[in-house]
Amino acid sequence: DPPPPPGPPQFTGTKLVHDGDHPWQPLRNGDERGPCPGMNTLASHGYISRDGVASPSQMVTAVQEGFNMENQFAIFVTYVAHLMNGNLVTDLLSIGGKTPRTGPDPPAPAHAGGFNVHGTFEGDGGMTRADEFFGDNHSFNETLFQKFVDFSNQYGDGYYNLTVAGELRFQRLQDSIATNPQFSFKNVRYFTGYGESAFPINFFVDGRNTDRRLDMVSARSFFQDMRFPPDFHRPPKPTSNEGIAEIFSMHPFLPGGNVDGKVNNFMVDPTSADFTKPCVLYADIVNTVQGLYPNPTGVLRRNLIKNLGFLYSSLPTALGAQCDQLFPYGQL
Ligand code: HEM
Repeated sequence: DPPPPPGPPQFTGTKLVHDGDHPWQPLRNGDERGPCPGMNTLASHGYISRDGVASPSQMVTAVQEGFNMENQFAIFVTYVAHLMNGNLVTDLLSIGGKTPRTGPDPPAPAHAGGFNVHGTFEGDGGMTRADEFFGDNHSFNETLFQKFVDFSNQYGDGYYNLTVAGELRFQRLQDSIATNPQFSFKNVRYFTGYGESAFPINFFVDGRNTDRRLDMVSARSFFQDMRFPPDFHRPPKPTSNEGIAEIFSMHPFLPGGNVDGKVNNFMVDPTSADFTKPCVLYADIVNTVQGLYPNPTGVLRRNLIKNLGFLYSSLPTALGAQCDQLFPYGQL
């Protein structure tokens, strides 16, 4: 049985997380890493298994412990990823590509392909990862990181702060509109795209530091080397996506994508969730899961019901939303 997700830890202040029990280690053959610098770093310090494969409850524990991510928000993000990219029978999820370590494959069209699978959780317009259309959607991209540095110099005196986040988020969307004929930025990706723009400020700044700005040496350490800076302390309180309203309001942008396979052909998608319609996001997630698992039976069906229940339980706090619960596979 998949265990229920962990609750919040007892101590939720700042503390040294780059400690003696969690040394950074280089990658070994077969270790999985992917598009998320947060999870990559946790794996490279042993907060989750260093091979990059873990259960969703282990991931929730790790993001709480290593980065002080708020409990309900961590549950929401992790169970979205698990339902879309994990193995629901073995309860294992890869933070990178597909690997036999997550166990026997579920029946297609489900894939248990890990974080790297495009169009479920991973999406376009990332800061330091290229769009899937350009061939590699998950590796650190030096050209894009230079843009992150340039914007930090231009708008943040050499630091990544909320102003930089707002400008870079908008610019990355304009870049994709102009160059990626398959550009899409809606539903889950719309929410995560804005959230991830706030994460470097919320999670990568040392918890003893009260300035909400990230220096470029630390940024490269996380994004490229998957490594806590020396003596790194996690944030001083449980943290989620604080700052997204400010980032969004600098250049409001509605969800949508390029249509008809053409660049510079952006159309708003009025059916997509946006920040005023969180229950549409929930419905879209359930709909994606149903597309992956049209007719589950046995343990698979039971685990889908359980994991969808864990996800639903996080909505009031994670999205601030009271939505009607959906039961595509009935109830236990
Ligand atoms: C990006 C998953 C927690 C920081 C991503 C992406 C995935 C992901 C799939 C790729 C999305 C994309 O850009 O296309 C998760 C899951 C988490 C989690 C399931 C579970 C709680 C965290 C934490 C941090 C973090 C705790 C920070 C400490 C980031 C950042 C990006 C990102 C900054 C954007 C990378 C970029 O645009 O270059 N995450 N993540 N994530 N994640 Fe995570």
